[in-house]
Amino acid sequence: MWGGRFSAKPAELMQAINVSIGFDRRLAAQDLAGSRAHAAMLRKQGVITSADEAAIQQGLATIEGEMADGSFPFRDEFEDIHMNVEARLRELIGPVAGRLHTARSRNDQVAVDFRLWVRDACDRTIEQLRSLQRALVAKAEANADTLMPGFTHLQPAQPVTFGHHLMAYVEMFGRDAGRFADARKRMNECPLGAAALAGSPFPIDREATARALGFDRPTANSLDSVSDRDFALEALSAATLCGVHLSRLSEEIVIWTTPQFGFIRLSDAFTTGSSIMPQKKNPDAAELIRAKVGRLMGSLTQLTIVMKGLPLAYSKDMQEDKVPTFEAFDALELSLAAMAGMVDDLEPVPAKMAAAAGAGFSTATDLADWLVRNLDMPFRDAHHVTGAAVKRAETLGCDLSELPLSELQALSQGITADVYEVLTPRASAASRKSYGGAAPDQVRAQVARWKEMLK
Ligand code: ARG
Repeated sequence: MWGGRFSAKPAELMQAINVSIGFDRRLAAQDLAGSRAHAAMLRKQGVITSADEAAIQQGLATIEGEMADGSFPFRDEFEDIHMNVEARLRELIGPVAGRLHTARSRNDQVAVDFRLWVRDACDRTIEQLRSLQRALVAKAEANADTLMPGFTHLQPAQPVTFGHHLMAYVEMFGRDAGRFADARKRMNECPLGAAALAGSPFPIDREATARALGFDRPTANSLDSVSDRDFALEALSAATLCGVHLSRLSEEIVIWTTPQFGFIRLSDAFTTGSSIMPQKKNPDAAELIRAKVGRLMGSLTQLTIVMKGLPLAYSKDMQEDKVPTFEAFDALELSLAAMAGMVDDLEPVPAKMAAAAGAGFSTATDLADWLVRNLDMPFRDAHHVTGAAVKRAETLGCDLSELPLSELQALSQGITADVYEVLTPRASAASRKSYGGAAPDQVRAQVARWKEMLK
């Protein structure tokens, strides 16, 4: 491609470190789309003739076909996807292929290709997040009344419902989708036409190419256009946060499927056995999703370090933007699909959850609240009386609701028998009617809101 200035071939090692076709072939579709838009614009602006454009478009169509049927010859000697396409175009249509690169550089070419790829990845991820949310909302709706313990410090805290717990993740994944949408909005400017770094002396129409490729507008500074990858970094940070959320749900699935908890069951479809211990059914998918956040965060770190301290404009360092980004989105795509599958698959064990919901004096706060409401006790005092009641129950080896009334009255005279109505886990959960609370009606309201939004 640059034979004019060179008289010798690159060293083998130079080629080995320089070649990127092994991974940037994943930009093939984007590269072709960019070239087609560029060629059409050059013709419209009178930079190339209609005949030249027709030949170029036809050649690019042939290449598209070759890519689709797997016959396109990807060759290391042509270094990257851009030169592989151009070299093949020349083989197909002759020297007129050389006109395609008028008013263009690989620097703006790769910037547009990569942006298009990351944009598509964000769109796919948003769709996947919505599918996962739909699976969670469906499980939550079916379990709006299924009691389970709510935890803090992984210690029983207050009774909630399984539906309420699942809806917490619907909120998290909703924010994740919002972050991908925000990133997409900001990245949707077209760098094509920035050329090598300074723009072009040809009368190009950057608005036209931006529009043809689905961008909102062209980028406004040619140096910035070819030299930043913040759009990929934003997408990778959104991916990392999403991975953090996925890892938390994974961890809970791992905990819930232990015999000790036994809150849910996964079918054979989402578990694996052990080669030595015949009794085992392990939640490997959850464990792997939990671990994948390492790749996501690793990719974000890699690219952040690649970009840090790079002078404007393009440097070859930036070729290292693709592998981490591809790897991250591959990992995220698989994780989101597997998580949606697992959520769909999991079956709660309501008896286990309900038993646990009542254990650990989980309705102690309800007793304190009853004292405040019915005896006009300041909450701090009510907290103290309840603490003493818990201590007494612990000594007697019973639950709060099993403490005889005389025991309760010994702690506070005014306590009457109707206190027992608030001491069941079901009454406790049902009483939490504040907006966004654990009461089944609140959960159903959130389910309805999300169902509407996920339509
Ligand atoms: N393969 C290169 C990359 O991914 C394309 C841009 C090369 N530009 C250059 N001036 N060497 O970054």
